[in-house]
Amino acid sequence: MSEKTYLDAALIGSMQAGDKLTYISHGPAETAQIAKAAAQFAKSGDVFCLDGDLGAGKTFFSQAFGAALGITEPIVSPTFTIVSEYEEGRLPMYHFDVYRIEEIEEMDEIGFDEYVYGTGVTLIEWALRIEEILPQHRYAIAITRSDPQNESERRIEICKY
Ligand SMILES: Nc1ncnc2c1ncn2[C@@H]1O[C@H](COP(=O)(O)OP(=O)(O)O)[C@@H](O)[C@H]1O
Ligand SMILES: [Mg+2]
Repeated sequence: MSEKTYLDAALIGSMQAGDKLTYISHGPAETAQIAKAAAQFAKSGDVFCLDGDLGAGKTFFSQAFGAALGITEPIVSPTFTIVSEYEEGRLPMYHFDVYRIEEIEEMDEIGFDEYVYGTGVTLIEWALRIEEILPQHRYAIAITRSDPQNESERRIEICKY
């Protein structure tokens, strides 16, 4: 399987269901380019699931994605509020961090379905924690440290379902 760099980020726009793309990012700026490409091709109703360890870059990716949509206010991790809404960009952006969810029912209370089947684009950090309720149509983005010797390198694997 070939590994792409940020220079091929536009490939995200042509992904079909079942496709998988793997990028190697050598630093935050390259991850931002990949997030930017994803944002440029994002459409109403798209769901981007972000998984990876603490410090992998899920929030960083979300910030670059939001900036590319045209959001100028600071995007902060919604760890305690679970979801933040940003209405300022090309599309509304709903940014979840479900790390603290213990019972799936909590997501109903928040109105999860109204977000993911709504008009905006949804980003979900720690999405695998709520895997059973994720919509079928989604991009799954796994971010991992790919080189133990290099603090700035990440493998970013994107699957379109
Ligand atoms: N290649 C890279 N891509 C993304 N972030 C990186 C990269 N290299 C270093 N970093 C740093 O890793 C940190 C990721 O933090 P954050 O996005 O809050 O992680 P998470 O939300 O996954 O817990 C940021 O400080 C970012 O600058
Ligand atoms: Mg985070």
